[in-house]
Amino acid sequence: MRVCVVGSGGREHALAHVLARTAEIVVTPGNPGIPGSVATPPEEVEADLYVIGPEQPLVDGLGDRLRAKGKLVFGPGADGARLEGSKAWMKQVLADAGVPTARHGTFTEAGAALEFLKSLPGPYVVKTDGLAAGKGVLVTESLDEAADDVGSKLSGSAFGDAGRTVVIEEGLDGPELSILAVCDGTRAVALAPAQDFKRVGDGDTGPNTGGMGAYSPVPAAGADVVDVVMDTGVVPTLAALRAQGIDYRGVLYAGLMLTSDGPKMLEYNVRFGDPEAQVVLPRLSSDLAALLAEAAAGDLRSQPAFVDDACVTVVLASEGYPTSPRTGDVIEGLGDASALPGVTVFCAGVGRDDAGRLLTAGGRVLDVTATGATIAEARERAYAAVDRIRWSGRHHRTDIAENAAKDGT
Ligand code: AMP
Ligand code: GLY
Repeated sequence: MRVCVVGSGGREHALAHVLARTAEIVVTPGNPGIPGSVATPPEEVEADLYVIGPEQPLVDGLGDRLRAKGKLVFGPGADGARLEGSKAWMKQVLADAGVPTARHGTFTEAGAALEFLKSLPGPYVVKTDGLAAGKGVLVTESLDEAADDVGSKLSGSAFGDAGRTVVIEEGLDGPELSILAVCDGTRAVALAPAQDFKRVGDGDTGPNTGGMGAYSPVPAAGADVVDVVMDTGVVPTLAALRAQGIDYRGVLYAGLMLTSDGPKMLEYNVRFGDPEAQVVLPRLSSDLAALLAEAAAGDLRSQPAFVDDACVTVVLASEGYPTSPRTGDVIEGLGDASALPGVTVFCAGVGRDDAGRLLTAGGRVLDVTATGATIAEARERAYAAVDRIRWSGRHHRTDIAENAAKDGT
């Protein structure tokens, strides 16, 4: 089978790497660190299956355009992708499906938004309705800060049109969990859970990012938790989408908080998580290409299987990320890092100069990933590899999977 992976980040590198176990791979546009990258637009690539990585092309209807040409596509159409394209609509779908979520309201006007904020006990959560690359969410204890944030979002000064509608929520508390479900329009199967680290700094400090690291499996999320999330979240959501005539074929990514009242859905994404894919997919022992092809065809029959080994990824970011990343720094030590046992480095924001050197070309640059018999071993291996990679201004979190590793798993 020839598979075309659409996208250019670390998630797409991980997809290509794992799909290549059983399929021939082309990645568009990819990046200079991903083997098989081509500049040809997806509509002009010949393949048996198209796997669309990022949310933006899904929201823009790439899945629909490819399906209209008779192609087999893993990824929802624009109708289903709206789950991620509009948080306000997503909340409506959650309500229709009866899925537990945070108390919330949707606003386009500051006065009503402030009234609602004042009615909440705090902490306060303010989200852009539209896409903001994981950076449109403020969580704060301060009512004043929340009110200022509402103002800058609604005015368009912070996130342009994506922020002209905001969703305000009560802040929840508990460990976060990502469950990626592969859906064929009717049926869904869960992949192994992962935990992502959203804040830029150690100890969950600083602004939100696209994700600074991840690990899988998650000791706090056994099969019982996954079953609850599938039965009370993903499956009713698929049914609610079907009731609206939406045939959802792709990943439904459930972003959850494990609160003392049980799991609550923070958000849905309509694609593999980044960097969750980097730790979930390498653990698959079954055939990823076959699984995604079945889902794309509306004929999901396989059950994914996973090895017991753990996987940890540490994101290396460029100076200034997430606010204003600097690009163009020369990356050194990638070969040395990749030579360590169990280590794979997925390339996210990288470019190449005329001399053939790899350069930083984005905010999240490399995903240093390692497998090991335990989370502790995978973590040690990943950080040993991190130590071998250098560029000016590079930063990363030092506490990815630290607590899970201490649990002895
Ligand atoms: P989202 O894009 O909705 O997943 O939000 C990004 C991050 O903001 C989440 O991963 C959480 O860390 C945090 N967050 C979102 N909603 C809430 C909430 N209601 N309470 C606490 N934290 C939240
Ligand atoms: N890691 C969070 C996301 O992919 O949205």
